Amino acid sequence: MCGIIGVSGVRDAPEVIVEALRRLEYRGYDSAGMAIYQDGSFKRVREATGTHSVELLAKHVKDFQGSESVSGVGHNRWATHGKPSQENAHPQFDCSGRVAVVHNGIVENFAELKDELLSQGHLFTSDTDTEVIAHLLEVALGGTDRIDDALAEVFSKLRGAMAIVAMETSRPTLLACVRRTSPLIIATNGDEGFIASDIPAILGRAKHYYQIDDAVVASVELGEVRAFKLDHTEVEPREFVVTWDLTRAARDGYDDFMSKEIMEQPQAIRDTLAGRLQHWDTSGIQLDELRVEVEKLQRVNKIFMIGCGTSYHACMAARYAIESLCKIPVELDVASEFRYREPRLDEQTLVIAVSQSGETLDTIAALAEASSSGAVSLVVSNVVDSSMARMADSVIYTHAGPEVCVASTKTYLAQIVALELFAIYFAKLKGTSTTAELRSLASALEELAEKVGQLTNRFAEMVGVASKVENFERFYFIGRNVGFPVALEGALKLKELSYLPAEGFPAGELKHGPIAMLDASSVVVAIATRGRLWEKVMANLQEVKARGAKVLLVASEGDNETIAEGDAAFVVPETHPLLSPVLDTIPLQILAYHLARYRGFDVDRPRNLAKTVTVE
Ligand code: F6R
Repeated sequence: MCGIIGVSGVRDAPEVIVEALRRLEYRGYDSAGMAIYQDGSFKRVREATGTHSVELLAKHVKDFQGSESVSGVGHNRWATHGKPSQENAHPQFDCSGRVAVVHNGIVENFAELKDELLSQGHLFTSDTDTEVIAHLLEVALGGTDRIDDALAEVFSKLRGAMAIVAMETSRPTLLACVRRTSPLIIATNGDEGFIASDIPAILGRAKHYYQIDDAVVASVELGEVRAFKLDHTEVEPREFVVTWDLTRAARDGYDDFMSKEIMEQPQAIRDTLAGRLQHWDTSGIQLDELRVEVEKLQRVNKIFMIGCGTSYHACMAARYAIESLCKIPVELDVASEFRYREPRLDEQTLVIAVSQSGETLDTIAALAEASSSGAVSLVVSNVVDSSMARMADSVIYTHAGPEVCVASTKTYLAQIVALELFAIYFAKLKGTSTTAELRSLASALEELAEKVGQLTNRFAEMVGVASKVENFERFYFIGRNVGFPVALEGALKLKELSYLPAEGFPAGELKHGPIAMLDASSVVVAIATRGRLWEKVMANLQEVKARGAKVLLVASEGDNETIAEGDAAFVVPETHPLLSPVLDTIPLQILAYHLARYRGFDVDRPRNLAKTVTVE
């Protein structure tokens, strides 16, 4: 969590920093701040007004006019140590205001470091762990002006996953950074230098992008990039290509990013499938990266799928395809639990880690655990060259483009698609399914974007259906088989956006307890498309109706028999049963979107959340 930006030699630095912070708001928004070097010292402004912090910060841009301002750092905060307040907002300074630091992540040993610094007479003005870094840099710098060397010395004292950008007043064009697990990139454009948490922050400004490896100190001074390991051996900065364009990261006339990203779902699916299905039956499906011998994958006899939140639901939805086509046991785990239950892993185990950002710390930690046990790993990530993508033996990228809204929509659909492509790849590799079975799924994948488009084009109509339950305050989502992860995802979207109590259950489980909660003031959303267990869902629906709950259905187009059973229904086109979670989830995204807006909430920036969760 937290968004970081640093600029060196950039004209109008305050504007550029504020614009970057706007684009990084998805990483945290309870406070925001920037420090700009002007006339020999740092001028700092900070705001801590929740979701409006960056908006208010932008009003300070005019305070910087009149003097040259070409270098500075900015930060969006998602509070960990210390409540959201101006004092705790970044940048944090040392005692004299010579050093400015912005930081993402947690310094796990900050308490002991702080005690030591206090005993040396350092004065602290915040409750943050970040301020410790500023004071340590003050000590390490001494009389020199090399903030990068000082950062290398300080970093080896810090425990935990984090990303840091620091600068100091005697050489203000030199910005230094370092990371452990948390994301950070460096970029240049002629004489301009940038450091940011994520690509969209500097898209359109920067031309050359460089990856920063863990525990490598990198610096940018105007357009010059330098990198070295903690033992001071120089390393060559690794350039990578960015294909995202600015329009895909901007709101483009939509009211918010969420509706834009829901509408982009057909394209996200097309781009994720592009070039991968044409030759699936002859040369097969190509993974983006394959760093182990194919024979090793062939020997795999068990799969674990891990992820967090929505990405976990994508695992759950795709598990049916992998089990059905690859005839192999598949276990599912929430990433934050996986490594603490001592899973039985060996060289014949494949661990599939799914993550939009590729930077979620819980998933990274689980993946690292799996790799150290010798398991083969596959990562599904939306961010090219993300930390997870670099750790894994093999990678499939979802080409959904940048997702800015905190709640995942298009990347979720793209994840299911990528995982089902993997199911075809792996079934072919192991020879576990007939060509006819694989062809049936491959053809359905080819038609999927078109069907998703039919649904997104009916956005307004679905808002109309959602409006029928506008005044209800408790929601239960039920589904069976592939409908179960849809129910969980529908409930997650609703609670994170509208803050309404919402739970998802397997429909057959309702009678074992949750049914006690049903009455006329509750809504049950049932995934009742014509899947394998449709009849059983319908039977469960009768139990619901008998308790007087309002019933909202997701039903197959033209299925009047089912539609008649509900108070209102979202209708979706039919598809291959293994792909129905892709279509059935879309109305539930729109339901959550509408109820949040109806209740007056910011759909892009739900309270207490951040897009990329880089703390455990
Ligand atoms: C919910 C949501 C989160 C993320 C989760 C994992 O809408 O977006 O639940 O899915 O934090 O993030 P990634 O996929 O980046 O690992």
